[in-house]
Amino acid sequence: MASSSSSLSPAAFLLLLLLVLRYGDVSAGHNNPAPSSSSLCYTRLFSFGDSVTDTGNFVSLFPNISVLGPPYGETFFGRPSGRFSDGRLIVDFIAEALRLPFSTPYLTGETADDFRHGANFAMAGATALNQSFFKDMGIDVRSIPPYSLDVQLGWFRHVLQLLLESTKQEDNKDIMSCSLFLLGIGVNDYNNFLFQNRSFTAEIKPLVPKVVEKIGNAIKVLIGLGAKTIVVPGNIPMGCRPRYLAMFQSNNSRDYDADGCIRWLNDFAKFHNRALKRMLYKIPHDPTVTIIYGDYYHAVQEIIRNPIQHGFAKDGALTACCGDGGPYNSGSAFSCNATAVICPDPSNHVIWDGIHFTEAANKFLASGVLDGPYATPSILSTCRR
Ligand SMILES: *[C@@H]1O[C@H](CO)[C@@H](O)[C@H](O)[C@H]1NC(C)=O
Ligand SMILES: *[C@@H]1O[C@H](CO)[C@@H](O)[C@H](O)[C@H]1NC(C)=O
Ligand SMILES: *[C@@H]1O[C@H](CO)[C@@H](O)[C@H](O)[C@H]1NC(C)=O
Ligand SMILES: *[C@@H]1O[C@H](CO)[C@@H](O)[C@H](O)[C@H]1NC(C)=O
Ligand SMILES: *[C@@H]1O[C@H](CO)[C@@H](O)[C@H](O)[C@H]1NC(C)=O
Repeated sequence: MASSSSSLSPAAFLLLLLLVLRYGDVSAGHNNPAPSSSSLCYTRLFSFGDSVTDTGNFVSLFPNISVLGPPYGETFFGRPSGRFSDGRLIVDFIAEALRLPFSTPYLTGETADDFRHGANFAMAGATALNQSFFKDMGIDVRSIPPYSLDVQLGWFRHVLQLLLESTKQEDNKDIMSCSLFLLGIGVNDYNNFLFQNRSFTAEIKPLVPKVVEKIGNAIKVLIGLGAKTIVVPGNIPMGCRPRYLAMFQSNNSRDYDADGCIRWLNDFAKFHNRALKRMLYKIPHDPTVTIIYGDYYHAVQEIIRNPIQHGFAKDGALTACCGDGGPYNSGSAFSCNATAVICPDPSNHVIWDGIHFTEAANKFLASGVLDGPYATPSILSTCRR
């Protein structure tokens, strides 16, 4: 039957209004980071992690580092931005969707005002386990930054203190409950062993419970401080990363899966993810707390399986956009720089520099956890206001 807006029930009208509020900026076509006063549901975004999430902590320590020079940042920022990508990271797309500005990297801020929308504690190379753990295992720790998850949590406590003082609040409750937490870390713990030729079965697999426990402890700390919504992404299909495909090449076709990825590495990523999910399920919490598992594994697998369908090129699935040639355009570490082989269109590649995602892939992953289906519940469905 014909319907008109006058026949909308108040509830339907409210729903429509919410939809317009939520999608209005998209249809209007402007993409400036929105002012703080209109943040969508969470007023702050705090993130912990490694180079997948680092938006400037690492580079603030090593301003002249050549591994992050041009063409990094070329797609969105037009210059290297301290991000390991050609453009925005997943955490940036999450901030945009929440209508928050990009969070301030912890090491580049000082005052409560710098952190009024949250902070990013992620550090390239960071591990869940601490540096002394690796030292004790006889691992060369020169490439392991001393900024493991515990250190990042310490930084968070400092920011929380600053915010409490500046807002003159008695306790953490309000600050914590209106904040979204993103905590994705752990792959470097394994890389440190993998890249130093350690035994997979004797040394690397047994790390998984330790890494997962460390992540679990951090989540318990955040919940103890009053966090209500925590997003915990799993590992990506490691065996589909060009750098790993080049490093662990094999002449045995059984080492590869149907997607052309290294089977044992992907099996390992799934092994980690199963342990992570079991741990998340067991964390005691009251019903006001939501822990969201981010299924990056299946999101990445989807674009690698059906690249064209998602706007990627067929040869952009397993070949790095920026590198030093070879079958995966990723012959050696840190091979993406101004003299590298750079694909004409990064937006149709999944991987930017052999390890890290392009902005296009980051956008797909972010959307998969913001709107689903790669997070249950999806982040936007948890908005409380
Ligand atoms: C960074 O590099 C520039 C030019 O190469 C040099 O002048 C400057 O001293 C360097 N800064 C640091 C902190 O190394
Ligand atoms: C590092 O972690 C180990 C456990 O993995 C712990 O026993 C040790 O106290 C930690 N060291 C530091 C400096 O935090
Ligand atoms: C690991 O093994 C490869 C091939 O056997 C070798 O080229 C590389 O130098 C080794 N790396 C380390 C850190 O021992
Ligand atoms: C694969 O086989 C070729 C030719 O037999 C050999 O040169 C190459 O080293 C092998 N590669 C690996 C990774 O085993
Ligand atoms: C740039 O990367 C290439 C490989 O793509 C490497 O051979 C070269 O040494 C790198 N240059 C610098 C300055 O790091």
